[in-house]
Amino acid sequence: MKVLGIETSCDDTAIGIVNYGRGRFVIQAQVEASQVLIHRKYGGVVPEVAAREHAVTIIPTLKAALRRARVVWNDLDVIAVTAGPGLMTALSVGVETARTLSYALKKPLVRVNHIEGHIISNWIHPAAAKIRFPAVALIVSGGHTELILVKSIGQYKLLGRTLDDAVGEAFDKVAKLLGLTYPGGPSVAKRALRGNPAAFSFPRALMGRGNLDFSYAGLKTAVLYEWRKHRRRSVKLVNDLCASFQAAATDQLVAKSRWAMDKTRAKTLLLAGGVAANELLRRRLSSIVNREFPGARYFQAPLSLCMDNGVMIAMAGAFHATHRRFTPWKKIRADPNWELV
Ligand code: KG4
Ligand code: ZN
Repeated sequence: MKVLGIETSCDDTAIGIVNYGRGRFVIQAQVEASQVLIHRKYGGVVPEVAAREHAVTIIPTLKAALRRARVVWNDLDVIAVTAGPGLMTALSVGVETARTLSYALKKPLVRVNHIEGHIISNWIHPAAAKIRFPAVALIVSGGHTELILVKSIGQYKLLGRTLDDAVGEAFDKVAKLLGLTYPGGPSVAKRALRGNPAAFSFPRALMGRGNLDFSYAGLKTAVLYEWRKHRRRSVKLVNDLCASFQAAATDQLVAKSRWAMDKTRAKTLLLAGGVAANELLRRRLSSIVNREFPGARYFQAPLSLCMDNGVMIAMAGAFHATHRRFTPWKKIRADPNWELV
């Protein structure tokens, strides 16, 4: 089955084409038109600007993906598109494009939840057959910080989520405060390598044992207050702030993932989303699963699929297509607040 995936929920116009057969995925094309340079000026994503850029780039990006996969329109079996959650104006560009393609090519259409797409990106792993249920998925991005119980593909239960900022958003805001480039995650992580994570003791919120919710507003504010205290703003200060912030941010993610694994007796921990690219987080989660949960396995999305992409949407679309969960082109709508669970 050849599936086209279209993703325009935020600031990447992303297309993926995957081949799915005998439980395995082969990526045939992954093309992204990133708007990072455009949004960098503002230090964040401007919805109207994002939507206009999606409208300009979506057709050329689709064509580039077809060329790369060496397929023509009629070779596609299924069209999958992110219908939410995300920015309404941005989602609409992808959904309207998918609707038009489904009608014109007479191909079935699958609406995909963006968060489910991130979860399913883990199935690209060659050992994905070893993903056992129940699994716990930690989804961390610029818009999301969620712990989800995955009973099986398509059956989810929310275990915990952020009560205020998403962790990626906290990385982005701290980077902006310290004058580092957008997106903030990679810039903060890079500076943190040279800093001392114990230089400042920043708060770890909601650390009552077993609490599976997250909070990043207090941490972000603590970094702001510390920054304001210093008249001389050296490179060392920025590095130490980054390292101490990153340590506090990841402590919260690691502690709650551990409790979620404990509580649900999960057999697998899955990590995905933009912040899943963070090296420290990857190392720490891998080490707690290996040390503390004998018999359980840890999977993390490959770096190439951490940021928003069309491949993960095509993969989720393939799973739903095998169960014939299609949406008629007349009925599909973008749903900016679509809750997975
Ligand atoms: O999943 P994604 O591409 O878009 C959303 O759905 O939000 O995630 C983007 C987020 C941004 O906040 C970015 O700063 C963060 O992922 N990010 C990182 C790293 N690389 C990207 N955060 C921490 N460490 C990184 N290495
Ligand atoms: Zn995302």
